[in-house]
Amino acid sequence: MKVAVIGAAGGIGQALGLLLKLNLPAGSQLSLYDIAPVTPGVAKDLSHIPTDVEVTGFAGEDCSPALEGADVVLISAGVARKPGMDRADLFNINAGIIKTLAGKVAEVCPKALLGIITNPVNTTVPIAAEVLKKAGVYDPKRLFGVTTLDVIRAETFVAEAKGKSTQDVKVDVIGGHSGVTILPLLSQIDGVSFSDEEIASLTTRIQNAGTEVVEAKAGGGSATLSMGQAAARFGLSLIKGLQGEDVIECAYVQGSGDNADFFAQPVKLGKDGVETILDYGSLSAFEQKALDDMLPTLKGDIEKGVEFGQAD
Ligand code: NAD
Ligand code: LMR
Repeated sequence: MKVAVIGAAGGIGQALGLLLKLNLPAGSQLSLYDIAPVTPGVAKDLSHIPTDVEVTGFAGEDCSPALEGADVVLISAGVARKPGMDRADLFNINAGIIKTLAGKVAEVCPKALLGIITNPVNTTVPIAAEVLKKAGVYDPKRLFGVTTLDVIRAETFVAEAKGKSTQDVKVDVIGGHSGVTILPLLSQIDGVSFSDEEIASLTTRIQNAGTEVVEAKAGGGSATLSMGQAAARFGLSLIKGLQGEDVIECAYVQGSGDNADFFAQPVKLGKDGVETILDYGSLSAFEQKALDDMLPTLKGDIEKGVEFGQAD
């Protein structure tokens, strides 16, 4: 298996590279690319860790050498938020970066599973879909917005609130990856009950957790270490699926369109990426209202990406 990390010299990219070097199956290749000249050095640094994963690093204008033969590509290239910004403010810079990089994926490794971390995810994923469509290689089963951070946050915060081990709490998070479009399904957690006030405050905390980190870092960026872990978990799940294991993750994918053209929900992963988009089960009245209320925002985010992706 070959995994390519694009944006590999950044905060997320370096944490992700480390976790993949430690956890990819023996015999895998890890390929790192970033426009930053330090990237071959990051690869050299990782290569001194004694695991059976071969690491190579590339910098410069062209990411093609890093993408050659990749089975999985994870993209975290782009700019991150500072206090006072929301994720949509990143569109002006990141939309163009994703358009270019998705074009390279279409050219060099069109069959790779592509996970997009770069914000605003609600919009960058539809951009990538349009670019892949234009190149004639789009397969919705192979394109993912990485929303795993919302899941691990929800599991952490619920475990803390209820005095449970994080290992015993599983939470699905549906919708998208910003503000009100993040909807944790707290009503479905086994063996845990909440008051209405707890549901409201935990939901808001999970929705605002990215901002919590941005404010705490006070201009120094957004979540990188927790996101590195979330992306590594998701990337390793993609690999497990490719290797024929049964694995389920929530991800932002193009599905039935019942709610919106792209929607985060649990998906079963397999040898071709998405094997089945799973039903997210029944919602409480609170969750149903939150879902209904988020859809105009989510659809607007998607439309913006489709327009940008289609434009010449
Ligand atoms: P960072 O600034 O630390 O790193 C970004 C890296 O991208 C830099 O090393 C930069 O050189 C590189 N880069 C920029 N343009 C590039 C290009 N064209 N090709 C290759 N590399 C390029 O930022 P970060 O903290 O790692 O965050 C990266 C992105 O991930 C941001 O958009 C952030 O909002 C997003 N993010 C998403 C989630 C999520 O849950 N999906 C979570 C956290 C952060
Ligand atoms: C997060 O959820 O931490 C990321 O999307 C980064 C951000 O800007 O909040």
